Amino acid sequence: MLTSLDGYTRIPGARPRVGVLASGSGSNLGAIAAAIAAGDLEVELAAVVCNVAGAGALERARRAGVEPALIEHGGFGSRADFDAAVVAALRERGVEWVVMAGWMRLVGVELLDAFGGRVLNIHPSLLPSFKGLRAIEQALAAGVGVTGCTVHEVTEGVDSGPIVAQAAVVVDPGDDARTLHARVQRAEHVLYPRAISAAIARRRARDER
Ligand code: GRF
Repeated sequence: MLTSLDGYTRIPGARPRVGVLASGSGSNLGAIAAAIAAGDLEVELAAVVCNVAGAGALERARRAGVEPALIEHGGFGSRADFDAAVVAALRERGVEWVVMAGWMRLVGVELLDAFGGRVLNIHPSLLPSFKGLRAIEQALAAGVGVTGCTVHEVTEGVDSGPIVAQAAVVVDPGDDARTLHARVQRAEHVLYPRAISAAIARRRARDER
């Protein structure tokens, strides 16, 4: 069956087209690109959208062979206008799955409606613990012995969509936010490509039913 996606025709068996949204250093973007290059993640990196000029994610995208779209939120009058520009950039590139990797903007209904159920995020805690900003600091302040990272579907609530996959990271007695975040990020880089694969396979199985 061929399904039209805003001008793009989905060819059965073709690799799903993924668009990554990033605001920061882009280490997760790098891990996703490396997994694709290694043949461990069977998707096409079709787009990278970044909202911060000078962010490391821009260079990582270029290294992965993708010219990133820089869409700075400061240039828009409202969040809805900004989201609409992001959706347009993703659609122009035929994106089917949206992968948020350090995207420091709340996601509006425009994006969720456009890609319903096909938007993923990674959060540096074992959700539902430590939602929102500074999750690593929250975990340290709570004194937990184990934290980690979670890949989840994005819904309207903050860090509250259905969980796709999690990885645990032990908190060492001498950890500070920097050392703990570094270990959580190493776990993220392994988890995210696998979770993307799992989410796509799960969705495909559901759509074929
Ligand atoms: C990650 O730790 C992720 O959990 C959080 O933002 C960070 C992004 O890091 N949402 P990077 O830009 O992928 O290096």
